[in-house]
Amino acid sequence: MDPYNNPDQQSDTTIQAMVTRLEERGKHPVFARMIGAYLKHVTTDVPLRVLDLGCGTGVVARAFESNLHPGSVLVGADVSQRLLDAAGVLSPGSRILWRKVDAGSLPFGDSDFDVIAMHTLLSHVVEPEALLREAHRVLKPGGSLIVFDADHASTTYGLPEYARMLATDKRLAEAIATHPDICRQLPKLLKAAGFSLERHCSEIFSECGRGDFWLSSVRGFARLIPALGILPEEEGRAWVAAMLASHEDGTFFAAGSYYTFFANKG
Ligand SMILES: C[S@@+](CC[C@H](N)C(=O)[O-])C[C@H]1O[C@@H](n2cnc3c(N)ncnc32)[C@H](O)[C@@H]1O
Repeated sequence: MDPYNNPDQQSDTTIQAMVTRLEERGKHPVFARMIGAYLKHVTTDVPLRVLDLGCGTGVVARAFESNLHPGSVLVGADVSQRLLDAAGVLSPGSRILWRKVDAGSLPFGDSDFDVIAMHTLLSHVVEPEALLREAHRVLKPGGSLIVFDADHASTTYGLPEYARMLATDKRLAEAIATHPDICRQLPKLLKAAGFSLERHCSEIFSECGRGDFWLSSVRGFARLIPALGILPEEEGRAWVAAMLASHEDGTFFAAGSYYTFFANKG
């Protein structure tokens, strides 16, 4: 059901909900800080060839553009032409090269890039193993792979009944991520693809009382739940209403955790 592994096959409503959500979350100060934290580890001293794989609307590619040596080449690549079109419109005057690709079989030569970033890509692809092998092939020896993803399996939206909350969280996670547990698998997957894991960092992103980042996610779900049939109609409406009401009366709770993995091609 994950709409992010085949965006071009989705309805206009779903694509619009995705564009809005990707841009809103990219602009959120906490999310932007998490991106900035890993960009700091990419050198600006020399020109680099950088690939933002699964770039979507270009949130991370645009952040890279203002943080790289000016002689660098930056490619934003995605399977979705409709998201790449949105990225082009959202990045006027940019030098980013937008490319339509399938990350499982990349149209780039061996050892072509110094840095590859995957920002919430791997949780959405059917075969993360194949994609990591391709990334390993197109990365230069000594090059850096940065993988940032959500541990969707721990994302939770507070509801008064525990059993209902667990069941709803699971349905939502499985509806928007092909691999809700990808972060838990990454140490093994990176090793199997030939990378050496240098380090990782993680962050819990929670909102209590009022929602903002997670409220924008709820609003996205308000469009996606009926469009994708994630929950029965009445149940979906009730969940959205409960989330919005808890925000209004100051009892909102939602949380999720994010991981960044830094790996090298040895
Ligand atoms: C959750 S979005 C993340 C977009 C962007 N990195 C961001 O964080 O704003 C996941 C992206 O992965 C892309 N994607 C999914 N499967 C892909 C594949 N096999 N090859 C390339 N891109 C893919 C989707 O089209 C979508 O743009």
